[in-house]
Amino acid sequence: MKNFYITTPIYYVNDVPHIGHAYTSLACDVISRFKRLDGYDVFFLTGTDEHGQKVEKAAKNKDIKPIDFVNNVSSNFRNLSKTLNLSNNDFIRTTEQRHLESCQKLWKKLLESGNIYLDKYSGWYSVRDEAFFGENEIQNGLAPTGAKVEWVEEPSYFFKLSDWQDRLLAFYRENEGFILPKTRRNEVISFVEGGLKDLSISRTSFNWGVKVPNDENHIMYVWLDALTNYITAANYNSNNNDFSKLWPADIHMVGKDILRFHAVYWPAFLMAADLPLPKRIFAHGWWTNEGEKISKSVGNVIDPITIINDFGLDQIRYFLIREVPFGNDGDFSKNQLILRINSDLANNLGNLYQRVISFSFKFCNQMVPNHNNNIQDEDLKVIELFSKSINILKKQIDEQKLDECIKLIWKNITEANKYIDTQAPWSLKDKNPERMSVILYTLIEFLRQAGIMLQPFIPDTAEKILDSLSININKRTFENIDDRISPNIVINKPEVLFPRIDN
Ligand code: MSP
Repeated sequence: MKNFYITTPIYYVNDVPHIGHAYTSLACDVISRFKRLDGYDVFFLTGTDEHGQKVEKAAKNKDIKPIDFVNNVSSNFRNLSKTLNLSNNDFIRTTEQRHLESCQKLWKKLLESGNIYLDKYSGWYSVRDEAFFGENEIQNGLAPTGAKVEWVEEPSYFFKLSDWQDRLLAFYRENEGFILPKTRRNEVISFVEGGLKDLSISRTSFNWGVKVPNDENHIMYVWLDALTNYITAANYNSNNNDFSKLWPADIHMVGKDILRFHAVYWPAFLMAADLPLPKRIFAHGWWTNEGEKISKSVGNVIDPITIINDFGLDQIRYFLIREVPFGNDGDFSKNQLILRINSDLANNLGNLYQRVISFSFKFCNQMVPNHNNNIQDEDLKVIELFSKSINILKKQIDEQKLDECIKLIWKNITEANKYIDTQAPWSLKDKNPERMSVILYTLIEFLRQAGIMLQPFIPDTAEKILDSLSININKRTFENIDDRISPNIVINKPEVLFPRIDN
């Protein structure tokens, strides 16, 4: 089996989970589920980023020890994974022993290869971004992100980032798909072309972090620590050769705000440690709330758990993935969400399912009707919709065009709806029951395939569809698209997939 390794960023535990976290994780979940159905052995990693000054400060504000604080709050993110029905294979915490070992191993490798030296740092630091900024980047006393900065002067180890500028640029040139979308790739390239300074990678003024080997006054810079999680989970710390089974990762999914860390620093660290680079960094866009920037101070943070309780999990999964061309920014608007739920989910998919299943339930003895080898060209067109789309869908997922993938699936569902309207099986009940059976058979077979294809996006609903058609649990992968449902299989009682929402 081919391996496929995909990661979310690890989330800062000082925050409560919000829509941004949910979005990154959902995108990875859709891709993971899709690749599994396509025969890949998928390893989907998520977790929490628990070190650094920001987390230390948050613990201090609560008057508790950092370790007690992180033990308490990291479960918020573990719970979010459950609420979102994520299919992650591992949940990493940077306070785990395996991770401390892995960070120190990487540090030693960088030191031995001559990429680390000791000096003094003086400059601006933003705790919110956990990032250093050059004098030229400070605007009106703030970081470019709008965060407060403080002046830092302390002994520090440096990573010779400047040595890697040319090799990074050569790598970007030779690997066009390394950074996506393209516009983001161009931004990274011009940033690197602008010149790279050596990077401060240790701090001495606080101590909530991984200790630098052989110099206990220093703790590692939280981004070096955090990025290393991706190799920790692939067993970098162990001495057997498990590591090469998983590493390099196929995709690091990140938000656009943290692209530089992933597309510049991380590959430079890896090259310097003589480790293979991940195959792709994909930077998705940001959500606003009813047109406004989401921020704690404005108080318009969207809590994923509340909206899931209000609208339903699959409804939210569908909306977030369908609404925005993946990679662009998007706006979370309740009106738009309700519109999508009512039109795409309730009317288009829900009605098709309801009409077909209830009809067969009533007129075909709760069974898949017989087609008596009388399938016509117009029926075949519907039966073959997904066989014809499957390779396009796979390509779309491999390019992270998640919204296009969902749109193509819905185009097929719309086709099936047109078919039921023009064929009008209800009108044939008395005058041509054989033909009615063929039409219903066609539609049920279409629903079986749609059920398979919908699993990555709306897994609970897909399961309901497949269960109601009594599809064996081992017959739900892409290999089964070309199976044909057998007549006389029992259909289970239909339930409303998506209740309409009154605005
Ligand atoms: N801890 C770092 C990541 C380390 S990875 C080695 C971090 N954590 S975070 O919790 O602040 O952010 C995690 C993700 O949430 C980022 O990918 C970020 O882009 C995403 N989002 C935060 N707000 C967002 C929106 N409003 N919209 C979409 N995603 C956004 O950064």
